[in-house]
Amino acid sequence: MKIIEKVDELRSAVAAARNDEKTIGLVPTMGALHGGHRSLVERARRENDVVVVSVFLNPTQFNNKEDLRTYPRTAQADAAMLEECGVDIAFMPTVEEIYPEPDTRVFDLGPVAQVMEGAMRPGHFNGVCQIVSKLFEMSQPTRAYFGEKDFQQIAVIRAMAHQLGFKLDIVQCPCVREADGLAKSSRNVRLTPEVRRVAPNIYGTLRASLDFARHHSVEQTHDWVVATINAWPEMEVEYFSIVDGTTLQPVASWDDTSYIVGCITVYCGDVREIDNITYKQV
Ligand code: PAF
Repeated sequence: MKIIEKVDELRSAVAAARNDEKTIGLVPTMGALHGGHRSLVERARRENDVVVVSVFLNPTQFNNKEDLRTYPRTAQADAAMLEECGVDIAFMPTVEEIYPEPDTRVFDLGPVAQVMEGAMRPGHFNGVCQIVSKLFEMSQPTRAYFGEKDFQQIAVIRAMAHQLGFKLDIVQCPCVREADGLAKSSRNVRLTPEVRRVAPNIYGTLRASLDFARHHSVEQTHDWVVATINAWPEMEVEYFSIVDGTTLQPVASWDDTSYIVGCITVYCGDVREIDNITYKQV
């Protein structure tokens, strides 16, 4: 595995691969790699000739500076995991390398980017689009891999790729969970033991709501999920939105559309956990 820190070096490496008509799979990450990332990398490995994994803690997508400050940084362990997965290129640039000058681009991606995380974390998706568009441009991937845990992020990246005319497949990969159901996340290491014990009830409640939803309205299901999770003193729901899985706009009835997803964020102590569940997909 090559560890590349310079953009020009990455460009030369992918140009050579492209010249040889090789397919390139890109897995963008912010490091602190876990089993969820591993599954993305393994899939990219199976489906492409060349696998590029970027490890870059992108400051422009953090609307909360404390979250950026406390985000786990594990570069050595990340490189070891990528090597073990048979990655060809680990792209590990500095902030100055990616942003030699401030990125002032403003993306307008319409309604998919305005609800949920877009409303709660102003500027977050703009920062995600800044870095992901740069990574697409620098690494010219045939396919790019993203985890379904960040359900809205995938929709926003699809909209950005479409708007900017990137020709690549955006591959949506299933959320990977701990044995007790908690979605794997780099931020999980920041949960206190007490909070870690109750956090699996986020997914437990979402799963139980599938049954509840069979006999109740969208509004009743929404209220039941929020009340059930909030009954644990260690957790507080920030939002739970039941939305059309494509447009991400709220639905009022189970008959509104053929694809319905519930997206949730919950404060577990001071760690913000995100998860989702599919109610309907036909
Ligand atoms: O999902 C993430 O880890 C980040 O938002 C991404 C896509 C790597 C961009 O920094």
